[in-house]
Order: sequence, then structure tokens, then C-alpha cells
Amino acid sequence: MAVFNLLFVVFPFFCLSITSLAVDTIRVNQSIRDGENETLISTNETFELGFFSPELSSNRYIGIWYKKISPKKVVWVANRNNPINDTNGELLLAEQGNLILMNATKGTVWSTNSPSLATNPTAQLLDTGNLVVQGNGNGNVVWQSFDYPADTFLPGMKLGINLVTGMNRKLTTWTSINDPSLGDYTFEINPDGLPEFFLENDSAMVYRTGYWNGITFSGIIFLGPNPVFTIDFVSNEKEIYLKYELKNKSVLYRMGVTPDGTIERFICDDPARGWRPYLNVMTDTCD
Ligand SMILES: *[C@@H]1O[C@H](CO)[C@@H](O)[C@H](O)[C@H]1NC(C)=O
Ligand SMILES: *[C@@H]1O[C@H](CO)[C@@H](O)[C@H](O)[C@H]1NC(C)=O
Ligand SMILES: *[C@@H]1O[C@H](CO)[C@@H](O)[C@H](O)[C@H]1NC(C)=O
Ligand SMILES: *[C@@H]1O[C@H](CO)[C@@H](O)[C@H](O)[C@H]1NC(C)=O
Ligand SMILES: *[C@@H]1O[C@H](CO)[C@@H](O)[C@H](O)[C@H]1NC(C)=O
Ligand SMILES: *[C@@H]1O[C@H](CO)[C@@H](O)[C@H](O)[C@H]1NC(C)=O
Ligand SMILES: *[C@@H]1O[C@H](CO)[C@@H](O)[C@H](O)[C@H]1NC(C)=O
Repeated sequence: MAVFNLLFVVFPFFCLSITSLAVDTIRVNQSIRDGENETLISTNETFELGFFSPELSSNRYIGIWYKKISPKKVVWVANRNNPINDTNGELLLAEQGNLILMNATKGTVWSTNSPSLATNPTAQLLDTGNLVVQGNGNGNVVWQSFDYPADTFLPGMKLGINLVTGMNRKLTTWTSINDPSLGDYTFEINPDGLPEFFLENDSAMVYRTGYWNGITFSGIIFLGPNPVFTIDFVSNEKEIYLKYELKNKSVLYRMGVTPDGTIERFICDDPARGWRPYLNVMTDTCD
């Protein structure tokens, strides 16, 4: 049962416009159904979550993309290695805060498998692009998509390792632009010795950022001081991570790794004009 059905009961005459009512949250036993074109839309309509197919594929995936910018750029995918092959998929928030993606026969295709439980949970798509499951009573987050990055590093995300829990937040490329399954390249922190980020191809190093010198990583300019974002690199006995925040909230920025292992960075200051490249790591370097 979805929130849309509830609305249908209350406002039967508006049934045709129900799916265009923007909601950013589902509660227990509510779902997003592919067949009904249901989606979640973040408060300021920056991001949308729903089912999608890559351009040349009919496979169905749950993903998050920028709502107002064309062409569609998917920044996160749930069931990367387990596509659904029809439009009968349904993403349900179950009791205790587990998000479950089910196929036509109600088989579980993917789930958050949250290690901790939530009472009276909600799943909300934030305007940062983070899908957050939390208990309503105390607001404790039991699961968030920012902890499981796909190929895109968004503002506000922590990229790095939690040395206490072992959680390693890294980027993994799509196999191809038409297949979001786990690809060849990862971009992740190497915590041994002085921390730095490695771009690896099946564990063979392709590119390293060099060490953090307090202002930037020694090998590259791209994370140095710039007009667009501020950088925060934290390294202590509990965690090592990189995070960045935009200086101007009206400007969108994203960094990612393409299926062929290219680090790309794009900026958008006007959704109608779309993305434009903003510096390129590989060409910034002289090594
Ligand atoms: C959710 O659905 C289950 C199974 O139908 C039911 O037992 C439970 O009471 C429902 N919970 C809520 C909060 O609606
Ligand atoms: C969902 O969207 C597709 C593609 O735009 C359309 O063909 C279909 O009729 C829509 N289904 C519903 C229930 O609105
Ligand atoms: C949404 O937009 C309003 C108006 O521009 C702004 O005040 C608010 O901070 C924005 N909210 C978020 C979550 O970005
Ligand atoms: C979808 O997958 C199911 C289960 O593997 C299979 O039975 C069905 O034939 C597939 N449908 C299509 C259209 O490929
Ligand atoms: C649904 O998923 C279950 C479990 O993953 C699987 O056994 C079943 O074949 C799937 N059904 C379809 C129609 O894909
Ligand atoms: C990455 O690995 C693939 C498969 O092993 C190989 O074909 C490709 O040349 C490698 N690319 C780079 C840049 O190392
Ligand atoms: C933030 O970006 C918007 C869009 O480019 C621009 O109109 C505005 O002047 C910027 N604000 C500041 C404080 O730079």
C-alpha cells in the first residue's frame, strides 16, 4: 500500500494528479511502485528517487538523479547487480526500517539490511541526494545511501573509512553507461601509512592523489582551495575521510568516475543550461 492509495481514498476525484504530488518520505508499509511511476522528490526538487532504465537497456533499477537537469544523471543505484526485468518492481519500507526492493513475485531483489532497528521509521530523500532511513521517535539514522556510494561523490558525503566499524565508503564505476553493475574501477582511500586516494583497476593502481598536506592532496590541484567548495579531510584513530561542501547552495557540483576510469567533475549553476565540466584531474596533473 502506498501513500498514493491513501490519498486516493481521501481525494478520489484527484486520482489522475496523485502521482504528481511530490512527496519526499515514505513510512512503514508504504512503497514506491514502478508500474505507477511513483517517485520520491526532495523538498527543493533537486533530487528524485525512483525506477529507471539506462538508455540502451530495459532493466529496471532503483536510482537517485537530479530532477531538473537533462540529460538524466543517476548518482546512486540500489540494485546495481540485480536488475528487475519488468515494471512490477516495488520499493517497500518494512517494519523496523528495512527498505526492501521486491520483484513481481515479491521476491527480495535488494534490501538495506540495516544492522540496527528503528521504531516508527521513515525513509526520506533529502535535498542533498541522500536517502535516509531513521526512527521517527528519536531520529536515529539506521541506514543512508551516502554510506554506500555508487560512482558519484556528492557534496556532504564522506568518502573514506571508518576504522571502528570497518565501513569503507568508496566509488565503484558502472560496467558501462548502459549497465550500472559493479565495474572495473574503484576510487578509495588507502589508509596505510600517510592516507591518500587511489584510483584502481581491478586492484592495479591507475592513479594516486598523493598525500594530504593540510590544504590539498600533493599530487593534484582539484581538491585545493577554489571558489566553488570547501574541503574537509579528517584523519584520526576513528576515521579517515574526505568531504566537501558547496559555498553557494544554488550551485550544483558533482565528481565521479566514468566506466573507463576517467575522473570527471561537473558544475551546474542553472538547471536549464545543464552541466559543464569544471577542471579535470588527469589534465591538472603534471605527473
Ligand atoms: C504493516 O504491515 C504488516 C503486515 O501486513 C502489519 O502486520 C503491520 O501492522 C503494518 N504496520 C503498520 C505500521 O501499518
Ligand atoms: C508511466 O510512464 C510510462 C512512460 O512515460 C507511461 O507509458 C505509462 O502509461 C505510465 N503509467 C502510469 C500508471 O502512469
Ligand atoms: C530550499 O530552498 C529554500 C529557498 O531557496 C531555501 O531557503 C532552503 O534552505 C532550501 N532547502 C534546502 C534543504 O536546501
Ligand atoms: C524475468 O525474470 C524471470 C525470473 O528470472 C523470468 O521467469 C522471466 O521470463 C523474465 N522475463 C523476461 C521478460 O525476461
Ligand atoms: C523474484 O525474486 C526471487 C528471489 O530473488 C526469484 O527467485 C524470482 O525468480 C524472481 N521473480 C521474477 C519474476 O523475477
Ligand atoms: C583496466 O583493466 C581492463 C581489464 O583488465 C583492461 O582492459 C584495461 O586496459 C585496464 N585499463 C587501465 C587504464 O589500466
Ligand atoms: C550563487 O549562485 C547563483 C547561481 O549562479 C548566483 O545567481 C548567485 O549570485 C550566487 N550567490 C553568491 C553569494 O555568490
